Amino acid sequence: MRIDIISAVPDLLISPLSHSILKRAQKKNLLKVVVHNLRDYGLGKHQQIDDYQFGGGSGMVMMIEPIATLINKLKGDRHYDEIIYMTPDGHQLSQGECNYLSLKKNLIILCGHYKGIDERIRDIFVTKEISIGDYVLSGGELPAAILVDTLGRLIPGVLNDESSALFDSFQDNLLSAPIYTRPADYKGHKIPDILLSGHKKKIEDWRDEQAYLRTKERRPDLLDDNR
Ligand code: ADE
Repeated sequence: MRIDIISAVPDLLISPLSHSILKRAQKKNLLKVVVHNLRDYGLGKHQQIDDYQFGGGSGMVMMIEPIATLINKLKGDRHYDEIIYMTPDGHQLSQGECNYLSLKKNLIILCGHYKGIDERIRDIFVTKEISIGDYVLSGGELPAAILVDTLGRLIPGVLNDESSALFDSFQDNLLSAPIYTRPADYKGHKIPDILLSGHKKKIEDWRDEQAYLRTKERRPDLLDDNR
């Protein structure tokens, strides 16, 4: 999978994309992430990428031309399955959508900054608008990093079988069961006996039950979705 990220503040993306599972995915050539500095496509000698709002109002708006030039250049090189704009007024990201997007070949993720982007960019280019939640961040870079992280771990071959993303919370609309590691007894706080029983089937049943109970207690709305 190839993901092109368009950003006015590309440095914000470097660290989140360079460690752990995303690093491994890129090393294995299962994922290629290319971060584009929008400023390189800015207008005039100041490489302008934002301007005042028509009609007045505070905050600068990202201009259409630099973004259009870059997107058209990328589209000239390959077909993109989706051009995604990270924005708090998009629809909220879900595991189901991540699963769907992880099967795509080429994606563009556009990060807004300042007040946002000229509406015409959304009209002309954007095919999907995604929010990571009902709160406002300073820009789309951290949301884009979150999206890339969720997609990276879903690409076949990135995780080994044992830590497969299929066992993540939300994959069955269920939260994960509690997990424990050594010591089995920490100052009297013991792990559930069943986990020491060595009985695979019983442990699996216990985990299923715990996942269900935890979901019922904390996120009953997920169970409602299943009906
Ligand atoms: N940009 C700013 N806030 C955002 C959010 N909540 N989701 C996606 N992009 C954003």
